[in-house]
Amino acid sequence: MAKISVSTLAKMKREGTKITALTAYDASFAKLFHDNGVDVILVGDSLGMVLQGGEDTLAVTTDDIAYHTRCVRAGSKELFVIADMPFMSYSEPQSACQNAATLMRSGANMVKLEGGEWLYDSIALLTQQGIPVCGHLGLTPQSVHVFGGFKIQGREEAQAQKMIADAQALERAGAQMIVIECVPSALAKRITDAVAIPVIGIGAGKETDGQILVMHDLVGISAGYIPKFSKNFLLETGNMPEAVKKFCADVQSGEFPGPDHEFN
Ligand code: KIV
Repeated sequence: MAKISVSTLAKMKREGTKITALTAYDASFAKLFHDNGVDVILVGDSLGMVLQGGEDTLAVTTDDIAYHTRCVRAGSKELFVIADMPFMSYSEPQSACQNAATLMRSGANMVKLEGGEWLYDSIALLTQQGIPVCGHLGLTPQSVHVFGGFKIQGREEAQAQKMIADAQALERAGAQMIVIECVPSALAKRITDAVAIPVIGIGAGKETDGQILVMHDLVGISAGYIPKFSKNFLLETGNMPEAVKKFCADVQSGEFPGPDHEFN
């Protein structure tokens, strides 16, 4: 499989080819996902919940993400790997650069930060220093205590307009990709149309430029709970490689996410 870069991903958006992404935390799954058609691997701070068993992602450290990024990178040199910047690791532009450098040196191709316009200076500095950035809007899990739980975001028009403005600010600052999580599908489409960079959705309907799932949700082993926006692809296919291929095929054909997996 050809090596994927930020240019490949930008071209996929321009040409309307859907981008497929999954989280992974080790070499074996990263290689399996890549070999079966996944374009992007995210070393998500979701590992605080699915690997470490926490109730949220706040306990995850930069060292944790660096360790798992090295594991994922060992799975293949060809992978396009995004590493999550943990809670409080990017609250100032300088600390953002230092922590992002640790993740890039561990094998990441891009780092992901949760938040909108307030990240402008950090993102501008990161990109000036040669570090590609992915933004993350909507239900940003590091803010779960501000939201009062894992809740859909952007249902009110004022909140929706703010999220669109945030996406545009991230793009102006230099971000080259955005993840949007748990927002109504109509808002996800507005955000996707409002920026030229790829927008990857999770719980955001099918109108985004691509889809990402936490790997444990893809195979139905997230502590007995499958979020509404996810689907157990293992149930349908019976083995991991086929589950991954089906996820990619269904994203590309527009079959996933279907009406049952979206918020209106
Ligand atoms: O940490 C993570 O896995 C994520 C995805 C839910 C997008 O940020």
